[in-house]
Amino acid sequence: MLETLGSVPAGPLPSRRTDGAGAADPPPLPELPLRLAAEAPGWVREVDVVVVGSGIAGLTAALECRDLGRVMVVTKDVVAAGSTPWAQGGIASVQDEGDTVEQHVNDTLIAGAGLCIEEAVRVLVGEGTEAVDTLISRGAEFDRDPNGDLQLTREGGHRRNRIAHAGGDATGAEIARALVHAVRSDPAIEIIEHALVLDLIPAATAPGEPPAVAGVTLHVLGEGSRTGVGAVHARAVVLATGGIGQIYAVTTNPGVSTGDGIAAALRAGARLRDIEFIQFHPTVLFLGAGARGQLPLVSEAVRGEGGHLLNAAGERFMVGQHELAELAPRDVVAKAIMRQMAAAGTDHVFVDGTMLGEETWRVRFPTILHSCRQMGINPAKDLIPVAPACHYFCGGVETDLDGATSLGGLYACGEVASSGVHGANRLASNSLLEGLVFARRIAARLRESLPQRRAPANDGRPPGLINASVITELQQIMSRDAGGLRSAVSLDRAARELRRLAERNHAEPGLEAWEATNLLTVAAAIVASGRLREESRGAHWRDDFDAECAEWQGHLITWLAGNSDPAGARGPARLDHGFEPRGDHR
Ligand code: SIN
Repeated sequence: MLETLGSVPAGPLPSRRTDGAGAADPPPLPELPLRLAAEAPGWVREVDVVVVGSGIAGLTAALECRDLGRVMVVTKDVVAAGSTPWAQGGIASVQDEGDTVEQHVNDTLIAGAGLCIEEAVRVLVGEGTEAVDTLISRGAEFDRDPNGDLQLTREGGHRRNRIAHAGGDATGAEIARALVHAVRSDPAIEIIEHALVLDLIPAATAPGEPPAVAGVTLHVLGEGSRTGVGAVHARAVVLATGGIGQIYAVTTNPGVSTGDGIAAALRAGARLRDIEFIQFHPTVLFLGAGARGQLPLVSEAVRGEGGHLLNAAGERFMVGQHELAELAPRDVVAKAIMRQMAAAGTDHVFVDGTMLGEETWRVRFPTILHSCRQMGINPAKDLIPVAPACHYFCGGVETDLDGATSLGGLYACGEVASSGVHGANRLASNSLLEGLVFARRIAARLRESLPQRRAPANDGRPPGLINASVITELQQIMSRDAGGLRSAVSLDRAARELRRLAERNHAEPGLEAWEATNLLTVAAAIVASGRLREESRGAHWRDDFDAECAEWQGHLITWLAGNSDPAGARGPARLDHGFEPRGDHR
């Protein structure tokens, strides 16, 4: 049995397969800092619950925890920034009389390619309808039909219309508006903006007690008494920091998605689950081969309304490949597009939404229409060039059904978390729902048993930093070698390259170096996990193991362990892994 820092056992990995083309002795990954180098905290605040992040998960957690004592939200940018406002398609839940929990569960399990935790999916779907109703009661206004019922639509992998949307394709923006208003109007919730959480503070624990956290250190670009590096001590820390899209050259994620929460959890010894499953959205507006950073999404809802995918020859290529054609699960469509591009030697395919007409584009897809117009495209008349780009982190910090992680006092919800609902490939529009449902469950758990306040431990973790000059190169390496299609050869090359970048470890503490260190930490962990999982499943597509493997039907657990020498000093941290087979998954 392997042991994590949290003393939670994870079993041995499936034996290595011999048919891959990787090095017999794979190149080592970079040594990673166990703590971000930063000045000592100049101020301390005591609260009961600190929520890190201000998307749908974080703000819902804060609102649900408001009666538990002093609640603080810390967020890296302004409270209205982050991934949630960019969500287009919508939020899935069982609302229609013809739909059932069973059908939504089933679609989620099929999309998850054998790795969803069915119990978690049943919680997600079973509690989803009420969670959406609560969101509506908090002020979110969804599009409705002339009878006043929710206008429900469909996206990839759904066999029923069950996706509610707002402002046509501005669903996330409307949800963010309502939740930001609710949180800002609530005097029980304190908000600190422009606050990058650096690390989780380890708690002093009794001998034999599992590791726990006592709060966070953070850097605030503020005015007044809370500026510079500080510490927030809390009985419970709720991580809701979102995703990791910025480790790739092109992504639908905003600039703040640098994996800060994942990296901090890893440094603190938390277990991560299934982080090799990075979802590439099939249809992201293609802005040219040199485009970098956040790119506009062309929602699956366009295909849900009847849009088609065409290859360079103008042919529909999804028909005959999957019973749902263009509405197949996202991994299936992304792979088909990548195959089309490789076969034709092109860097994009097309969404044809010309049949939808001007009025549908104007009313139903105003955001996409605006992005297209900026490129001189009229989607009612022209084909839209699209290509896959990094969209969603399906794995994350491992949690139980109440959002509790492997560390005492640490909870996680939303994209940063692996609650088990997404498996190897998230079903469209289940992400906003996950944020809502599991934030509520964390609050319910804390209401039952808010952890006792723990004193911070003496933090002996050696600090380190990576120079911000690595970021562009890191993104290129990850896109080329650890993106939508990987192999042992490409992942070994990525490992070598990341190790080279990690040598640029002279940096002054500051936002860019902290982000660079987080990006490199998460990238290394993804490469390590991707290299181990010798199969193709869901969003993890290996050129050298092009099919699912029964032995790999299970969860790959990753954690960061500091080596201890006999004198008790800590050496550089290394990534470690364990495996949990899940024969019971559908
Ligand atoms: C989309 O609108 O296509 C994206 C929805 C999602 O990520 O679930």
